[in-house]
Amino acid sequence: MSVLLLLNGPNLGILGDREPEIYGTQTLADIEKAVAEEVHPAGLELLSVQHDGEGELIGAVHRHRHDTVGAIVNPGALMIAGWGLRDALAGYPRPWIEVHLSNVWAREQFRHESVLAPLASGVVVGLGAYGYVLAARALLHLRAGDA
Ligand code: DQA
Repeated sequence: MSVLLLLNGPNLGILGDREPEIYGTQTLADIEKAVAEEVHPAGLELLSVQHDGEGELIGAVHRHRHDTVGAIVNPGALMIAGWGLRDALAGYPRPWIEVHLSNVWAREQFRHESVLAPLASGVVVGLGAYGYVLAARALLHLRAGDA
């Protein structure tokens, strides 16, 4: 079975409990379940990885760059200056989509730029946990070659 990578960065392991007024009440496990359900009918399995450290995230991108068919990436605050993660994703040969639960442009100035976004196939922001499902759907669409 082909595998889709779900990569979540710092502070996203405590979703549901972390500032729910901004990030919602769904946990990472809820999101994993929703994304897995979205991609299963298309024959994809989900591999979910969350780390708080950039080095571990880079390692995961390296490890899975040839055994996954695409990725959904919420880099958390690494969007701001995660140059190492950015370079790892530059070497990731499959389509990937950046997701942010909150609308980063409606928030503090320091969240208004992502060093990763220029490399992504697309970016979904501000739609909460549903944004991950939309990203999964978009990757299936790209994979079908009908984008
Ligand atoms: C976030 C937005 C980032 O600015 C923040 O640092 C996060 C979460 C989001 O999903 O809205 O950790 O990526």
